[in-house]
Parts: sequence; C-alpha cells; structure tokens
Amino acid sequence: MVEKMMNIAVFASGNGSNAENLIKYFNTNPESRIRVALVVTNRASAGVVERASRLGVPVAHIARDRFADADHVLDQLDRYDIEAIVLAGFLLMIPDYLLHRYPDRIINIHPSLLPRHGGKGMYGANVHRAVVESGDTETGITIHLVNEVYDSGRILFQTSVPVLPIDTPADVESKIHALESLHFPRVVAETLL
Ligand code: GAR
Repeated sequence: MVEKMMNIAVFASGNGSNAENLIKYFNTNPESRIRVALVVTNRASAGVVERASRLGVPVAHIARDRFADADHVLDQLDRYDIEAIVLAGFLLMIPDYLLHRYPDRIINIHPSLLPRHGGKGMYGANVHRAVVESGDTETGITIHLVNEVYDSGRILFQTSVPVLPIDTPADVESKIHALESLHFPRVVAETLL
C-alpha cells in the first residue's frame, strides 16, 4: 500500500534559512513522507519568498491584519491539504482558531534555551543580544509545540552550545543557525510521523 504523504505549511517572516532547509530535507528526499506544500508569510518582501519560489513551493502572503480572518487563512491551508504547521522565524502570535484546528500539530523553533530569553519581542537578533548581554556561558535551541502563550508549549527538543566571553551576537547567531540546520527537520519528522 502506498503511504499517504503529509502536507505541511511552513510559516516564516524573515530570511527563511530554516524554511529552505526544511523544504530541501523533505521535498528532495524521495523516501520522505512529509512535504512542504506551502509557505505562509506575513511579509511580502521577506527573504523566504524568494527562497521558496526558487525551490518551487507556493507562497501565500497573508498580511498581519488578514490573520484575523479565520475563513481566509483556513481556506488557504485547506487548498493545500495542510495537516501540520511549522514556524520557522514567524513573528506573529498564532491565533486560537489555528490552535484548535491543529492541536499538537504546530511546531516552533526558538533560538535559546527556553524558558530563558523567550516571550513577546524575543526574536532572532534580540535573543542573541540578550544572551551576550546576560553573560550566559551557554545557549542553544528549543523546538516546542505551540500553545496560546508565547514560547511556552511542550518542549520537544533542546540542545546547547557554549558562549565564549569573546562571542558577539553575530557569533552566537551563527552557532545557533548551525544547530538549527542540523536538528530542526529531523525533530519535525519525528514529531509528526
Ligand atoms: C531562527 O533563528 C529562529 O530560531 C528564530 O528566527 C530565526 C529565523 O531565521 N525564531 C525566533 O526567534 C522565534 N521567536 P531564518 O529566517 O533564517 O530561518
């Protein structure tokens, strides 16, 4: 019997390196039972748009205000038979109607060891700056389920990396990106399959 493919959507607001990594991992592996069928972004000019288009994945641009329109958003997702959502640098709060439609089926990656440096406004470079300014000797990544409170859903995976006294926020960022690229697709697959 042929196994059914699971279609997922990746939500991203920025550069899109994680989105690209997820697309390559799932969509170019003939053995994969997951496919990134749609990228959703709230920013039409985000780097992720170009990356997804280059890799042949459709992009839905849904502006911040439009996210309040449940019918519109769910219609976009249903059009691609989306069964789970992965947040890869997505800035907006996930609305309740998505949490209800996808219970335990929305996964986020956060660039610190939650609960450290989480919460509203803690995004990308802000997190790396906070790590350096706090004098932390280690940081890492957290992959977790999404619930109604920022960065507080059940943790699926964490791994750490040392922060050296000479490290700048940019140094921390490249260490974090290396960890993300190594672990994120595998943890998504293990969680969803
Ligand atoms: C990633 O480091 C991700 O962990 C972070 O945004 C970056 C996006 O990079 N997410 C958050 O800070 C969520 N609060 P990318 O656009 O190159 O994938």
